[in-house]
Amino acid sequence: MKETDFKLKTEQLERYDRDGFLVLENFVPAASCDELRRRACELVEAFDPEGSFSIFSTQEQARKSDQYFLESGDKIRFFFEEDAFDENGKLRQKKEQSINKIGHALHDLDAVFGRFSRTGKLSQLVASLGISQPLLIQSMYIFKQPRVGGEVTCHQDSTFLYTEPMSVVGLWFALEDATRENGCLRAIPGGHKLGLHSRFERAPEGGTRFEVYDSSPWPLEKLVPLEVRQGTLILLNGLLPHLSYANRSPKSRHAYTLHVIDGACHYPEDNWLRRSAKLPLRGFY
Ligand code: FE2
Repeated sequence: MKETDFKLKTEQLERYDRDGFLVLENFVPAASCDELRRRACELVEAFDPEGSFSIFSTQEQARKSDQYFLESGDKIRFFFEEDAFDENGKLRQKKEQSINKIGHALHDLDAVFGRFSRTGKLSQLVASLGISQPLLIQSMYIFKQPRVGGEVTCHQDSTFLYTEPMSVVGLWFALEDATRENGCLRAIPGGHKLGLHSRFERAPEGGTRFEVYDSSPWPLEKLVPLEVRQGTLILLNGLLPHLSYANRSPKSRHAYTLHVIDGACHYPEDNWLRRSAKLPLRGFY
């Protein structure tokens, strides 16, 4: 792996600390973004939705899709836009335009995603945030399809990936230009100082639940749009409230996200995302 000299400057670290996010333009070359997009398309091409979903009843379907999600922490799985299927379990439109995202272990199971996710530059960037034992816990390829790409409501990533103490950092890569029109990220500057509002966890009786610590509404009037060009990396503190609106435009908004935790912190067993012993978490090397 080629080493680079990449370190955040003091004023960048101060800004990240103040805002809870940091925009790094031109972090990834366009060619790498395009390679990842091509690879994602190949994965979708090879994926057979009929083999994964058969509908018995609405309830049975809900249980199955729950299980499909809960087992995806160490797999490459495909998740559809809401309402992608009709009442007979058939896709309403083409498969390529129905997929919302792929997750959650692309970085460990696919060579192209692995190369994109494990670079000397990223390793140094994360080290400069003070993460001593980085572990790449989750990857997602997000399509935000033209016209049908759904809204993601305001949330903190630490709701879904929780460590004690808090260590989650989201790395959000713009694989295409992200604008207000195609549903760019929006965040509340400084919102990471509002505390963790809830946790999504595995329930002892099976399934999942939200544990709510603070039900006060997010100050959505403080949201700012993060319009960025292809190749930009946005760093997101796990406690930062953020969202993206639906994409009603004719342009897609592909993004790749990688979540890193500090192995020095405790990762509770009731986090939804679990790994089998066959695929242990790794850092950047
Ligand atoms: Fe998020």
